[in-house]
Amino acid sequence: MKKGILRAYGKYLPLTADTPALSLCEGDTPLVPVCNLGRELSVNLFAKYEGLNPTGSFKDRGMVLAVAKALEEGARAVICASTGNTSASAAAYAAAAGMPCFVLLPAGAVALGKLAQAMIYGARVLAVRGNFDRALEMAREGAARAGYAIVNSVNPYRLLGQRSAAWEICDELGRAPDWLVLPVGNAGNISAYCAGFEFYSELGLLKSLPRFIGVQADGAAPLVRGAEVDDPQTVATAIRIGRPVSARTARRAVEMTDGRFMSVSDDEIMDAQRELASSDGLFAEPASCAPLAALLRLKREGELPKGLTVVMVLTGNGLKDPDSARSRVRPPEEIDGTFEALSEALGL
Ligand code: F0G
Repeated sequence: MKKGILRAYGKYLPLTADTPALSLCEGDTPLVPVCNLGRELSVNLFAKYEGLNPTGSFKDRGMVLAVAKALEEGARAVICASTGNTSASAAAYAAAAGMPCFVLLPAGAVALGKLAQAMIYGARVLAVRGNFDRALEMAREGAARAGYAIVNSVNPYRLLGQRSAAWEICDELGRAPDWLVLPVGNAGNISAYCAGFEFYSELGLLKSLPRFIGVQADGAAPLVRGAEVDDPQTVATAIRIGRPVSARTARRAVEMTDGRFMSVSDDEIMDAQRELASSDGLFAEPASCAPLAALLRLKREGELPKGLTVVMVLTGNGLKDPDSARSRVRPPEEIDGTFEALSEALGL
């Protein structure tokens, strides 16, 4: 039974007797065997299906703790900047906690589903004429001035809660995978996964850490380039970030595990999205398909060793961004409502 992160992993989290038992039954997401693509890639491939969290992304794992702590500490409201998923999650948990929520989004650069979520959960949504990096600076300043709790990943509780994804993977596999491949934007999630695996290792539950492969989009790849990007651009709007807040800990994760950062093109991302959906029945948003794009590239270039156990993290649900998926496939053929028309269309 799903219990939510605070109950399932409370013993590893900084809870007190006063921490509210907030839950939308987040976490406990399936580790789906990706059989067809795994066979093509000659690896034992799994998808950590984070799109099945209550608001459709991995953000819920850390948000539940961040909002519970904001409530415990007496914050008047929560505030965040977001490329979309953080805002959806913040708005939902703030609603459940009975707190006001303020959201700053880069104007015109957020997928429709995510925008609709933030609004329907009752957040006050402001579209900033500027990119995510600028919106985050504004949110931080606003939080400091107003005494609101900032629930971006600069809030340490967010990353403490997000470690739970690493724990679930290890609990299920009985060990760490050989490789963990995930999209990198603000670089909080890769940092949280690393902290999660390290924590299990310190408890004696793991013998080895996975190799981290952090994947960015070509037009928003500060960690690959080793320099901030002033005007990040990519179809994967979730990871359209030029100045990752957790760059240092992300670099540490990659260096420590002999991993790497890679970037992939928008075309590779969109091709991977279609492959994942049409080969294995998994629909993830564009950012979440960057890992598969990277694996397909490594395979083509002969750099993917056979037989590895690989987990790719499908960070967000494909339904959040139907427009980008629809733009790459043939529209439905319209036919008359007759059997003859059906016969003609399908060649019956
Ligand atoms: N995948 C998805 C679907 C995301 O929404 C994000 C980040 C990432 C990957 C990257 O995670 O930032 O921890 O490296 N979304 C944030 C947001 C920035 O505002 O929703 P990260």
